[in-house]
Amino acid sequence: MKSIIVAIDGPAGAGKSTVAKRLAKKLGYTYMDTGAMYRAFALKAARDGIDLENEDALRSALAATNIELYEDARGPKVILDGRDVAGEIRTPELSQAASKVSALKAVRERMVELQRAMGARGGIVAEGRDIGTVVFPKAEVKVFLTAGPDERARRRFAELKGNGKEVTLEETVAEMEQRDRRDREREHAPLRQAEDVIGIDSTGMSVDEIVEQIMKEIKKKTT
Ligand code: DC
Repeated sequence: MKSIIVAIDGPAGAGKSTVAKRLAKKLGYTYMDTGAMYRAFALKAARDGIDLENEDALRSALAATNIELYEDARGPKVILDGRDVAGEIRTPELSQAASKVSALKAVRERMVELQRAMGARGGIVAEGRDIGTVVFPKAEVKVFLTAGPDERARRRFAELKGNGKEVTLEETVAEMEQRDRRDREREHAPLRQAEDVIGIDSTGMSVDEIVEQIMKEIKKKTT
């Protein structure tokens, strides 16, 4: 079977991670969580006390930052300067901070460079906001996954609660709306649908149904 690139873009809470992980497992492909890379860099900026509006300071920090993604038997790892930070990056604060740093051109250029190097040999399922439009515009299968705002907020809320975070549904809704607006309206690589994309509204759909629909498209490109 040919090894291809599967790109999954969409707003927060649309179900991208669950679907991308399942697809990668089914196909024996590498799962690439590009949001985790922006989150890891935001964590470094926060730790170093860098103002998220200070592009020069962020640019210097970036030059001294290494971020790698890989998986072992226990799950995906996000290695920031040699240390796994996967367990620290899923907080509402870092969601906002990641969204802020990801609006900067210098940050995007570096992350895209790392992502393309990781995906050079194909055989990946990458999820994010700009995978089909910027990172891998030639990806064989591109999906834009959305869901109604209530369902997205409920999913994000359940995920945060599951991780032991003290948040209310109202806070989750506000955080998500603000972040989506920023991700859609930014100047560099805003969240938008690629032209040759399969649009899936996952509201009311099960994970199995979504995965099955995408698998049909993958089969067309690989057999
Ligand atoms: O997918 P996520 O929620 O982990 O992403 C966190 C933030 O990172 C998101 O609000 C915008 C940014 N991001 C991006 O700009 N481009 C990507 N390919 C992935 C994430």
